Amino acid sequence: MTSALAVGIAGLGTVGAGVVRLLHDNADIITAHAGRPIHVIAVSARDRSRDRGVKLEFLRWYDRPVSMATDPGVDVVVELIGGSDDPARALVLAALRAGKSVVTANKALLARHGVELAQTAEEHKVSLAFEASVAGGIPIIKALREGLAANRIRRVAGILNGTCNFILTSMREQGREFADVLAEAQKRGYAEADPSFDIDGVDAAHKLAILAALAFGRAVRFDDVHIEGIRGVSALDIAFARELGYRIKLLGIARRTEAGIETRVHPCMVPENSPLARVDGVYNAVVAEGDFVGRVMLEGRGAGAGPTASAVVADLIDLARGRTAPVWGAAVGSLSDAPSVPMSAYVGAYYLRLMVLDRPGVIADVAGALRDSGVSLESMLQHGRAPGEAVPIVLVTHETRESQMREALDRIQRLESVLERPSMIRIEHG
Ligand SMILES: NC(=O)c1ccc[n+]([C@@H]2O[C@H](COP(=O)([O-])OP(=O)(O)OC[C@H]3O[C@@H](n4cnc5c(N)ncnc54)[C@H](OP(=O)(O)O)[C@@H]3O)[C@@H](O)[C@H]2O)c1
Repeated sequence: MTSALAVGIAGLGTVGAGVVRLLHDNADIITAHAGRPIHVIAVSARDRSRDRGVKLEFLRWYDRPVSMATDPGVDVVVELIGGSDDPARALVLAALRAGKSVVTANKALLARHGVELAQTAEEHKVSLAFEASVAGGIPIIKALREGLAANRIRRVAGILNGTCNFILTSMREQGREFADVLAEAQKRGYAEADPSFDIDGVDAAHKLAILAALAFGRAVRFDDVHIEGIRGVSALDIAFARELGYRIKLLGIARRTEAGIETRVHPCMVPENSPLARVDGVYNAVVAEGDFVGRVMLEGRGAGAGPTASAVVADLIDLARGRTAPVWGAAVGSLSDAPSVPMSAYVGAYYLRLMVLDRPGVIADVAGALRDSGVSLESMLQHGRAPGEAVPIVLVTHETRESQMREALDRIQRLESVLERPSMIRIEHG
């Protein structure tokens, strides 16, 4: 048997400890698939005394993760610290420059510095693998870069954040409000103490930027992703969605259009019988649409020690076998520079919920505001009457340009009988 692949792991938190455990527990099948053993020989974290539930006593310990990059005994560096900047970035760059391949689960780092890292990997003829960075245990990176490589991808859409999906699912199933479910998710460990990266859509946007780069062969452009989170979704909207035959999901969507590439993360109404609508709880799913393959969907656990370690170790097995691929599916110099389409140019149907004073003429005023902005209505929903009181009315539009919809919203908000900021959710085919 050829010599073992020697691995250094920086970061021994949820994922790092999970990787150590998986390499130990499944050593037999991992060795068989890799063609040689994969051994952890060095580790790094902040607190050396912390019990992580895994055996570390025979491993080299580095207080400074970047020192691992120049350890001549380490073949591959696994970066599981997190964060788009140092020490994660410094470690990955130093390892690539030292001629070592790197495996990482760090979506923030790839979304922000993906081109620089790919260039460095190319210059030093080493690999940078990141299967675990998007949708945890779902092998979507390999699927896009290899399995679907012969296709022109038209669209990639996914539920990319398990915390948001758990919150939206609980709101729907239990009729509860956002803040209440978020507090429970934090208590159960599904949401961080500072949940803003998840619920404001940033985490999903990091992952979407990576998927879009792979799907469309374009340099990764995180700053071009339009991002909205789920703080504004209310129990009332979820109830109306159900009545209209939809479910509300936070989706990341990347689409090739004639004008360029559209990348956006926002709450969507998806038809309740569409495959993405049925993905509930902490599960993630990604749909890819290719010109020859048609539609492919992958679903699974998007986070947690086991699923994420599964993806990290799959990358290590590839490296042990000598299987490599360009970081973004093609050499950096040959990536396309297709333009990004701004959100103002997006065209789609919209759900609008207004709280209005129930008095004569209100509907006509709202219809007038929509007409003046060139927005045409498909349907309207209003239940009962409560003269002089606040009532919700729900409007569904025909396909409309986002800039016109925004103009209509401004007009509607200025109407005296409209009581609060309207709730607007885009309708997506799922
Ligand atoms: N958790 C998931 O389910 C999941 C899923 C997919 C991707 N990821 C990604 O995987 C990466 C790791 O996530 P995680 O959840 O495992 O994070 P975590 O539990 O917070 O662990 C981070 C680890 O990095 C170490 N660390 C932090 N700063 C350091 C420094 N300056 N020097 C040395 N070590 C340092 C910490 O050391 P101490 O333990 O000593 O504090 C800890 O062991 C992130 O990029 C994350 O986005 C996570």
